[in-house]
Amino acid sequence: MARILITSALPYINGIKHLGNLVGSQLPADLFARYMRARGHEVLFLCATDEHGTPAELAAAKTGQPVAEYCAELHEVQAEIARRFGLSFDHFGRSSSPQNHRLTQHFAGKLAENGLIREVTEKQVYSNADGRFLPDRYIEGTCPNCGYERARGDQCENCTKQLEPTDLIEPRSAVSGSTDLEVRETKHLYLCQSALRDDLDQWIDSKSDWPVLTTSIAKKWLHDGDGLQDRGITRDLDWGIPVKKGDQDWPGMQGKVFYVWFDAPIEYIACAAEWAEATGNDWERWWRTDKGADDVRYVQFMGKDNVPFHTLSFPATILGSREPWKMVDHLKSFNYLNYDGGQFSTSQGRGVFMDQALDILPADYWRWWLLSHAPESSDSEFTWENFQQSVNKDLADVLGNFVSRITKFCRSKFGETVPAGGEFGPDETALIETLTGRIRAYEGHMQAMEVRKSAQELRAIWVAGNEYLQSAAPWATFKTEPERAAAQVRLGLNLIRLYAVLGAPFVPEAAARMLSAMNTLDTSWPDDVAAALTALPAGHEFTVPEVLFAKISDEQREDWESRFAGQRG
Ligand code: 2FM
Ligand code: ZN
Repeated sequence: MARILITSALPYINGIKHLGNLVGSQLPADLFARYMRARGHEVLFLCATDEHGTPAELAAAKTGQPVAEYCAELHEVQAEIARRFGLSFDHFGRSSSPQNHRLTQHFAGKLAENGLIREVTEKQVYSNADGRFLPDRYIEGTCPNCGYERARGDQCENCTKQLEPTDLIEPRSAVSGSTDLEVRETKHLYLCQSALRDDLDQWIDSKSDWPVLTTSIAKKWLHDGDGLQDRGITRDLDWGIPVKKGDQDWPGMQGKVFYVWFDAPIEYIACAAEWAEATGNDWERWWRTDKGADDVRYVQFMGKDNVPFHTLSFPATILGSREPWKMVDHLKSFNYLNYDGGQFSTSQGRGVFMDQALDILPADYWRWWLLSHAPESSDSEFTWENFQQSVNKDLADVLGNFVSRITKFCRSKFGETVPAGGEFGPDETALIETLTGRIRAYEGHMQAMEVRKSAQELRAIWVAGNEYLQSAAPWATFKTEPERAAAQVRLGLNLIRLYAVLGAPFVPEAAARMLSAMNTLDTSWPDDVAAALTALPAGHEFTVPEVLFAKISDEQREDWESRFAGQRG
């Protein structure tokens, strides 16, 4: 049994996330967490809301609420939606927690002690119309790297380049749109990332099994000269973690806060401390290599725009502390999911958002589509037609239909009890052999976090059961060889339990309903497939479940297509 620490990129607090956000981090992280638990490993799966910085302030200002109140409210909203989506976090924390305040200030203090922080008097954009400095997202303009016109002051969404607000061409205030901007002096702390270049280089080189998407982005920013520029880690904002050296004041830095991207990844650690405090557990055995965490395998999930922060900035913070913290072992990153010919966009309210998705269909429909179309090797696209097709075929026709046919047939001929009699013959042996090969492949893909390949294999496992049922045709056999039909049905009912166990990471609600219909708590993994298919013995009672997955009609599809064509209201 291994210990596995899993974190998903922390969703910004500013509103409910869209399906593109979900599929790039929280959902595949949940898939992996559920799978690893099912295989008997000890898992700590953490996520939290990312509450500081300009996104939070801007969103709170829009609602007219004080930012702390806004964050508390939106945290609850996001936690509830995550629960309804079946995201099985062991703890869903907050980057504004006291634990994160302490730890962020602790890291800053250590970095300063190690000579890795310098104080810089810098020029910053000041908006006369708004009467304030404009850090990060308070400012928009054209990206100097790729020419994208809506680049933000901290990063270009289009080419993932990390930016400083003064890098932008034709800058404007995101608050008022004003271009009446001037440059003023202000003092800030810089993290000397460049001094850590060799450490980072060596560390990334040691990760030979990382996905190409991850290492290529990391190497690009590490070697093209400016990716590892020293970065400002403080801001002139009210909302955030006050700049301190450990618990000491930092002369000259009163009234300033840490930059959101400095404190957010530290919340991965602080979140474990929150979890430990809430549950009476020990968090250091997950995070301190001097306290046992060198046995932990740590996997992070995120969209590609987050990769530079997780391969360079956050590791720089950790390495620079010269303390024995656990570092990430595997970093799984995703491309973008597009929406119907364009991009999902939070700022423009374009696409389907998590709450809207759950208003029209249960989580499993979405989980299945999103995961089976995860943007792994390239960007992928959500269309309503494709969604309808996958749901109707994979979930309704293949899985749902299998469960319904076999349970109903059994009820009509043998009653709601696993039938006795007959024996497995060559057809059953062949099926067991096929399934064994496919289940071993499924395990390999899940272990490797190959999300699409896992979904394909799972689907093939469902299809194999259907094909068996089709050719065994117990409804025909029953007329001439009722004993043989009994053995076929017994196998079919056992397949339902097997499918529930294998499919639970993808479709946990349906899996739970299948197990409850099969009247079993046995979720043991099918290491031995033949044995797993005898788990429900003759005489075991079951019930016929309600329809597992309803088909999506053309009318529904058209209705949703037009309803979600415009902006979120
Ligand atoms: O891009 C985002 O949505 C960020 N909120 C991710 C933060 S991940 C971690 F470092 F906190
Ligand atoms: Zn760009």
